[in-house]
Amino acid sequence: MATLEQIEPGDIAQEDGVRRRDFLNVAAVSFAGVGAAAAVVPLVTQMSPSADVLAQASTEVDISAIQPGQAIKTVFRKQPLFVRHLTPKEIAEADAVPVNSLRDPQSLEDRTKPGKTQWLITMGVCTHLGCVPLGAGEGENRGEFGGYFCPCHGSHYDTAARIRKGPAPTNLVVPDYVFRSDTVVEVGAKA
Ligand code: FES
Repeated sequence: MATLEQIEPGDIAQEDGVRRRDFLNVAAVSFAGVGAAAAVVPLVTQMSPSADVLAQASTEVDISAIQPGQAIKTVFRKQPLFVRHLTPKEIAEADAVPVNSLRDPQSLEDRTKPGKTQWLITMGVCTHLGCVPLGAGEGENRGEFGGYFCPCHGSHYDTAARIRKGPAPTNLVVPDYVFRSDTVVEVGAKA
């Protein structure tokens, strides 16, 4: 099956095909969602935490097993969270980019903690329309800049999870977090 990255500009028939399939998938999910939503609303109404509680919730993540070059996907406030252990090469690639050339100008240093630039912690939510980008899972496509790739509409993020190509307007969001030790991060906590 053709993927978006294989589609050349002007390859209209293929592109239309992909869009049609996207629409059908969305339509199917939406339809399935109507029944499910109707069934669970009373339960959710009783059980869902208040917005205040959600806003305060934090999540501890054990990062001890994440080797350089690897990443994990976890969940923070019900949304995907990526925790990535950058290699020295990936750090060098991020640092080599002139910050003022970027659509959303931020250095890797701006997006990590002092002395911990190897730990890149971001939401796993594309800033275009909210898909979950590829690149955190083993063997997944990391896009043209070695970070993350969102196949929904072709956004490429670099090794600092900064938007480099495609429609996404901003970098992947860095949440508040604090290192509780060298191997435990509390995401959602403020320093
Ligand atoms: S949602 Fe990621 S490129 Fe559109």
